[in-house]
Amino acid sequence: IYGPRRRNSRGVNLNVRSHFYPLMEQMAEFMEKTYTAKPLLAFEVDDDTANTHDVTCPFDRRQRLGSIQWVTQAQTAQALDAAWAAFPDWDATPVAERAAILRRFADLLESHTPELMTLCSREGGKLLTDGVDEIKEAVDFCRYYAMRAEDIFSEAIELPGPTGESNCLQMGGKGVFAAISPWNFPVAIFCGQMVAAAVAGNTVLAKPAEQTSLIAHRVVELLYAAGMPRNAVQLLPGDGKSVGSVLTADPRITGVAFTGGTDTAQIINRALAARENAPLPTLIAETGGMNAMIVDSTALPEQVVVDVIQSAFQSAGQRCSALRVLYLQEDVAERVIEILTGAMQELRVGDPRDLGTDVGPVIDEDAREQLQAHIDTLTAEGRLIAQTPLEAERTQDGTFIAPAAVAIDNIDALSREQFGPILHIVRYKASELDQVIDDINGRGYGLTFGVHSRNASFAAEIAQKIRAGNVYINRNIIGAVVGVQPFGGQGLSGTGPKAGGPNYLLRFASEKTVTNNT
Ligand code: NAD
Ligand code: ALA
Repeated sequence: IYGPRRRNSRGVNLNVRSHFYPLMEQMAEFMEKTYTAKPLLAFEVDDDTANTHDVTCPFDRRQRLGSIQWVTQAQTAQALDAAWAAFPDWDATPVAERAAILRRFADLLESHTPELMTLCSREGGKLLTDGVDEIKEAVDFCRYYAMRAEDIFSEAIELPGPTGESNCLQMGGKGVFAAISPWNFPVAIFCGQMVAAAVAGNTVLAKPAEQTSLIAHRVVELLYAAGMPRNAVQLLPGDGKSVGSVLTADPRITGVAFTGGTDTAQIINRALAARENAPLPTLIAETGGMNAMIVDSTALPEQVVVDVIQSAFQSAGQRCSALRVLYLQEDVAERVIEILTGAMQELRVGDPRDLGTDVGPVIDEDAREQLQAHIDTLTAEGRLIAQTPLEAERTQDGTFIAPAAVAIDNIDALSREQFGPILHIVRYKASELDQVIDDINGRGYGLTFGVHSRNASFAAEIAQKIRAGNVYINRNIIGAVVGVQPFGGQGLSGTGPKAGGPNYLLRFASEKTVTNNT
């Protein structure tokens, strides 16, 4: 009864079925398609079989999706030359033209939804519901940033004043941006960073995650079809360390828009800082979270469980916003855990293309091994509370993890972000609330946070005291909406500005004051 969404007797999700059937018919064409891809640079790239990698599906490693040729370090440097040379012209292109490209690109993303959803499932292991949300988010980013760019960059701001001269503030691009993105939002985050940097007048070197480079390749093909010049945005699929080290060492990189792990952001930060005689760079880093939710004794257990299941297990827990640590006040803990345990038995793990699946695979074998080792350690300590059963015939060929709920004493027990379907539960007494808040804040991360309470002033007070970028009251803690719920963290979780927010483009912009005494 308390599964995340009600199903009919055949296990099919009632609320999504009618919406998805027409899309699924169009997706059929792409279910077996194989892709070959290589870097998309301002110059032609020769075939390089030694540097070409097979791509298989996370839900069935026997299924080959295609292959991707990685960029070499020499090609990376050459791409930088092209991006550097192209910057002045691209920056001088009227913002209305740049914005028009984004709008055409958004239209193309929409019209290619069936193909992109299929790729999100086959390469990224995403459920169809997650895939369609992701493409809609990418479309929203494009249209929102196009609109913001026209507001910010169209005209210089006149600054009349007492000096007797004319003063104006001109907004432009900064130079060459590296846009380095993760695999867990291979369309939305990949597009968001890339188009924001480009529409602000920067030339862009887009480095997708190794695990989802085919999707990125298809997306950049659509961007070119929308009119983006090839020297304004180039695609550099490849190894993060190899490509990253060339980009972050080069003084011509004016800025890096990075989304990924906190450790990687720190490596990039150090590399940028170590450059000699280089301009001080802009680093926009959106990183990991140790996201918590506090549930007090007035909360509605049934609603809590629906929101916890979505927050912790949707997208197989592979969202930076996902819930990692659930704090339950003692008075309500037993009841919430009882319902949660029942709900977790109802979840179905399996092929993400099947509408009856609630939880798909994790991204790769490394992730599976690391997450399983974490569950095994806590299970050996007697801390396993509940776990979703895995059906062998649905999961044996892919990288699946059975969603687990485990008991811990404190958020400090987590030495790192566990990026998968693992929910940690801490029980607390009402008298310990201040300590709970100190523990969460003291961990240093600050991405998402949730509070469930029917005491409005209690919820407001907790929300005020917690240091996090996105705070949610009496709902799940995932799925921020572009334009109305700007997204991004604080502390170890990110530098800001918030993606999908009114200030995002400003960090990609340079400001020039022109004073004229003629
Ligand atoms: P990751 O840090 O391993 O990789 C991210 C990107 O960085 C990839 O493209 C990778 O190739 C590249 N990279 C790796 N080493 C590099 C280096 N030395 N120099 C330059 N680039 C390098 O992260 P991931 O596993 O792809 O993604 C998962 C992580 O991303 C999680 O920690 C998650 O919380 C975080 N994330 C954060 C947000 C957010 O908005 N805060 C959103 C999504 C994901
Ligand atoms: N923006 C994504 C979310 O809110 C990461 O879940």
